[in-house]
Amino acid sequence: MPSPPVLISEADIQIRVDELAAQISLDYADKGDVVLIGVLKGSFIFLADLARKMTIPRTIEFIAISSYGKTSVSTGAVRLLMDVRSNIADRHVLVVEDIVDTGHTLKYLIGLLESRQPASIKTCALLHKAESAEVDVNIDYIGFGIDDEWVVGYGLDFAEHDRALPYIGTVLPADRAKK
Ligand code: IMP
Repeated sequence: MPSPPVLISEADIQIRVDELAAQISLDYADKGDVVLIGVLKGSFIFLADLARKMTIPRTIEFIAISSYGKTSVSTGAVRLLMDVRSNIADRHVLVVEDIVDTGHTLKYLIGLLESRQPASIKTCALLHKAESAEVDVNIDYIGFGIDDEWVVGYGLDFAEHDRALPYIGTVLPADRAKK
């Protein structure tokens, strides 16, 4: 199968991740430690790059949830598969997502983490499909706004394919039908 066409190049991603890391480092400069919570699996590359480019004290955590996205039935149901390992009470939390589509996943995560009384909670998503929003959820840091199309690479998959692509590519409707 041919490589997915490029939507956002590797170079453009790196420039934007640099900018986000600089902005976040500035915003949290007087806060002490920030807990970065990466949402598995899709955020693993973005989180790795973002965390290495930040210049303030940071701790890494991961959380895994299952969602029923557009490749199956879009019910908006979200379930916790793996929790963070440390107590986030009174700590500054930044949730790091690969992409916000309908917003159900991020809304669920914010509700879950807020109930643990962190000092603050903010959100960062590399990609945002603004047209697809079904619920109102605040995203504090957005890498790129994209149209409502399925994208892969830089951590994102289609049926577990193409997560390790260094760029963000578009899955053609014809390829979607084949998988
Ligand atoms: P939401 O709950 O609809 O906002 O969906 C968020 C999750 O769906 C993301 O964390 C991804 O795992 C997945 N997702 C949504 N759109 C895409 C896409 O275009 N490519 C890959 N994964 C996606």
